[in-house]
Amino acid sequence: MDRAAVLSGLGTWLPPRVVTNDDLASELDTSDEWIRSRTGIGRRHVAEPGMATSDLAVEAGRRALKSASLDTVDAVIVATTTPDRPCPGTAPLVAAQLGLDTVAAFDVGAVCTGFLYALATANGLIAAGTAHTVLVIGADVYSSILDPQDRSTRAIFGDGAGAVVLRAGAPHEAGALGPLVLGSDGTGSELIMVPSGGSRDPVRAATVQQADPYFRMAGKSVFRHAVERMAEAALDAVAQTGWEAGDIEVFIAHQANLRIMHAVADRMQLPRSRFPVHLDRVGNTAAASIPLAMADAVTSGALRPGQRTVAAAFGGGLTWGACTFRWPDVHPV
Ligand code: COA
Repeated sequence: MDRAAVLSGLGTWLPPRVVTNDDLASELDTSDEWIRSRTGIGRRHVAEPGMATSDLAVEAGRRALKSASLDTVDAVIVATTTPDRPCPGTAPLVAAQLGLDTVAAFDVGAVCTGFLYALATANGLIAAGTAHTVLVIGADVYSSILDPQDRSTRAIFGDGAGAVVLRAGAPHEAGALGPLVLGSDGTGSELIMVPSGGSRDPVRAATVQQADPYFRMAGKSVFRHAVERMAEAALDAVAQTGWEAGDIEVFIAHQANLRIMHAVADRMQLPRSRFPVHLDRVGNTAAASIPLAMADAVTSGALRPGQRTVAAAFGGGLTWGACTFRWPDVHPV
């Protein structure tokens, strides 16, 4: 393939309100010590009531366009599990609010792997010549689907948005996406789910009392699957690129739990120091996690131009994915 999708812009946005572990402990049976030692998370950002996923996505998208020095793109893809509404998609609204006229715009839903699935989709649009430039946004407002009484999910998730611009370029350029490895296992669909509100269990006035509209997660099983699948996907992508595992200089991991990241590092026999950590300040931001972690790593100096990088994620579905690239000279806005 002589036409590649090249990373050429990066933007992020977090809602201003910060919720610390101590804030959670003031209303739930938990503690800063428990959350830090079991997850590595210290605080997270939470959207104000009335703030929807598109609001975050527009801010991150605007910044990614600025980072890429572009006014427009040919397509907008929004990866999210918390769309503004079940129908229509969130991306057309985001495109309109960014002033992008009538460009192609659609959502991708692969839970916490959504951003990588959206990258793969954009990669395909560019490879086929359907688009020359694509804005890929991962945005989620998980606070809108968390059970206020569920200490295990409220401790983990935060709200946020991150976006990249991909442009058509050459495979040898820094920033060109390498092989994208994607996978799923629907036999585990009940390990992470929102039970009600879809066609399986529609919320109707007569049954609304029995409905469960909240995000549910079997934490222990998810933990095990996440470690295995992220490591396998990353190794597969690395092998397809022609690298050895030890060649990975920076591993941008989905920021779900610090213990998951350490277990992936140990399994791949990589130093834990090659896994930049962002979740201590933002928690698990679902589809926004990978671009937010990339931006934080660039800002801190942990991710530098030319470095051999892997991004890998795992999420509900179950879904997982990984992708390789050398980091380009791109600065987050
Ligand atoms: N504060 C205090 N106790 C908590 C707690 C919290 N925030 N959350 C859970 N607990 C409790 C549980 O209720 C349970 O109590 P019990 O033994 O009385 O029933 C106990 O801690 C142990 O629960 P368990 O689920 O076995 O703990 P864990 O060590 O597996 O940690 C998670 C829980 C959720 C942090 C962990 O399983 C995890 O991170 N899983 C992966 C989640 C994830 O990454 N999801 C997103 C994938 S994209």
